[in-house]
Amino acid sequence: MRVHRQRPCRDTVNVYAGVRPVRWEEAPVRAALIGCGNMSRTWLRAALAIEGLTIVGLADLDRAAAIRLAGEFGLDDVAIAGGIDELLALARPDILFDVVVPAARHAVVRRALAAGCHVLSEKPLADTLEHAVDLVAAAADAGRVHAVMQNRRYVAGIRRLRRLIDAGALGDIDEVHCDFFKAPHFGGFREQMDHVLLLDMAIHSFDAARLLAGSDPANVMCREGNPRKSWYRAGASAAAVFSLPEGGVITYRGSWCANGLQTEWDSAWRIIGTRGSATWDGADRFAAEIVDGLPPGGELFAPLRAVPVPTLEPSDRIGGHAGVLRDFIDALRSGGEPETSSRRNFASLAMVLAAIESAEQQRPCELPRLPIELAQGHDA
Ligand SMILES: NC(=O)c1ccc[n+]([C@@H]2O[C@H](COP(=O)([O-])OP(=O)(O)OC[C@H]3O[C@@H](n4cnc5c(N)ncnc54)[C@H](O)[C@@H]3O)[C@@H](O)[C@H]2O)c1
Repeated sequence: MRVHRQRPCRDTVNVYAGVRPVRWEEAPVRAALIGCGNMSRTWLRAALAIEGLTIVGLADLDRAAAIRLAGEFGLDDVAIAGGIDELLALARPDILFDVVVPAARHAVVRRALAAGCHVLSEKPLADTLEHAVDLVAAAADAGRVHAVMQNRRYVAGIRRLRRLIDAGALGDIDEVHCDFFKAPHFGGFREQMDHVLLLDMAIHSFDAARLLAGSDPANVMCREGNPRKSWYRAGASAAAVFSLPEGGVITYRGSWCANGLQTEWDSAWRIIGTRGSATWDGADRFAAEIVDGLPPGGELFAPLRAVPVPTLEPSDRIGGHAGVLRDFIDALRSGGEPETSSRRNFASLAMVLAAIESAEQQRPCELPRLPIELAQGHDA
């Protein structure tokens, strides 16, 4: 599933080098939000807390939803629109917050980038591989910042594990194991869709696993099923093994219909490096242990020593949705590239799409890659 897109070669190494920072000091920066459904309230709460940012428009195919949302947040003067074209014409935003359903994302984001907006989209970056590559390329061509709401890497536990890894305590990371077991009765579209676990939820765990591993997998073998007790139509459980460069693995086991002994929403983790291991239960229980010398003569196991998992530092970026949104705005102010820029985030979507391909075809599959001129300078 490798994508080779025919496009002119770029001579800049970093496509973000050409992005012009927003001139924050001169006037309030204008943002509009499209997709006034469930998640839009979380977005608006985060956006309205940012100084110097003004919400100038709301849009939804269901215009009444946009009107309702404006009323709830006391946004009396904003433009109300029934779609992206009307929103861009009426509100003339600098920034688009895209909270539409995945199937509508490509058309909405393309229009916004073409109109000169910087765009922060909900996950997933796109609904297909082709759309994802096209959007990364469109943002680079437009010279605009384009990033994805990958809020579950902006949590304290993931940042603390990453800090432990960065300190070298575990040595080089060879294995990242992730368990996600929940049993929610969502009702609605999730209970009817294909690949519900892999498509709708696993991207959060896959994205955090990439961050912890510090590298992107090359291929995956995935089995997907729908257990007898499942109240979903398809794909409520899955197990995937991703191969990392240098022989390491990321493993994922998940279920949307795991009654009893459920994990936290942020999954349960075990990280294994060349010197030791760390675990996090997804809530407040951390443990780390490292090898402390050679096994004494005749002993089976090497002696071990517990090490503390570092606490958060002020520079660690957390806050879920609010954290990603703040980082996106900081990148606009400074001219930098957000941690979840679309070209960086592409690899998380690639894990999902390759896992689905592997489950459907019942064979190992390679992860798709971005064309080289878009990917250069990217990290996990
Ligand atoms: N990051 C997270 O933790 C998280 C959690 C849940 C959902 N999501 C993501 O958020 C996005 C939205 O999910 P939701 O639960 O809010 O869905 P939702 O169905 O409640 O809301 C989506 C809204 O978008 C509107 N819409 C659809 N197409 C449109 C278009 N072309 N123009 C304007 N409006 C359009 C719909 O009318 C609807 O009101 C999805 O991408 C979903 O995957 C993320």
